[in-house]
Amino acid sequence: MAGNVDALFIFLLIVTGMVALLIFVCLLFFAARYRQRAHVHAEQIEGSTPLELTWSIIPLFVFLAIFAWGAVIYFKERTPPRDAAEVYVVAKQWMWKLEHAEGQREINELHIPVGRDVKLIMTSQDVIHSFYVPAFRIKQDVLPGRYTTAWFRATKPGIYHLFCAEYCGTQHSGMIGSIVVLEPAQYEAWMSGGSTGPLSVTGEKVFAELGCVTCHRSDAQGRGPNLQGVFGKPVLLQDGRTLVADENYIRESILDPGAKIVNGYKPVMPTFQGLLSEEQLNALVAYVKSLSGAKPGDGSGKANADAAAAQGSQVNE
Ligand code: CUA
Repeated sequence: MAGNVDALFIFLLIVTGMVALLIFVCLLFFAARYRQRAHVHAEQIEGSTPLELTWSIIPLFVFLAIFAWGAVIYFKERTPPRDAAEVYVVAKQWMWKLEHAEGQREINELHIPVGRDVKLIMTSQDVIHSFYVPAFRIKQDVLPGRYTTAWFRATKPGIYHLFCAEYCGTQHSGMIGSIVVLEPAQYEAWMSGGSTGPLSVTGEKVFAELGCVTCHRSDAQGRGPNLQGVFGKPVLLQDGRTLVADENYIRESILDPGAKIVNGYKPVMPTFQGLLSEEQLNALVAYVKSLSGAKPGDGSGKANADAAAAQGSQVNE
């Protein structure tokens, strides 16, 4: 996205620079031309309709063009590709905890392969932080109590700065890290090192330990909805609304089960607020996702990454 964002930014800089220049040229010109010594008596000048139309309509189209251009980039940057590799991010005073869908955990460092789409699913354990990687032109607030997402595709191997861009306490300035972009082969080697197993498997264990499985059975007989295939699909609620089951919906249903009752079920589930760490919540979300078949970052993304990496190396040359 960096090239797109920069192009828009440079365009804005040129437009505002030209307007500022025009204003100063006019200011100096009129100050000299209509100085008091040459014009002792003021003349009343009536308005000019053509002039006013011109300076209203031309800026209107310039602003609309900027709006459309910005909107295109915004929607692209806000919409993660479906097969993106997923990384869960938990921010806290004052560090970044990152966990790959495959189970690797990192602190203040994120290793990713070049050319792969990466989706970040982020939440905070305490106050508001902001995940900021200037080189990738992404900055996203990370909030307690819900998920926000961001995505990027790194096109060149290297180490990039990660900052917290929201003042979050005395050591805010030390809440920094790095994004390590590796060649696919290096990444495979890195990935084969210490993992606690896929996040979804951890989630399955939590699911079993908490007894979720007694109500959310894989047949239709449970007191709670069957969770197979739920993620990413529309859900009909008791109040007649329909919504798509995303990360925030799963999260809310665990912490505030009464908020959105699925049609045909009773509000009998107890809350798990305060009983789960953010990491356990992320694992549960990853597990519910895995029940819907799609396993982001497992296989489908790899072919993509290889193709994109081939592309990326051409760019580097
Ligand atoms: Cu976290 Cu500033």
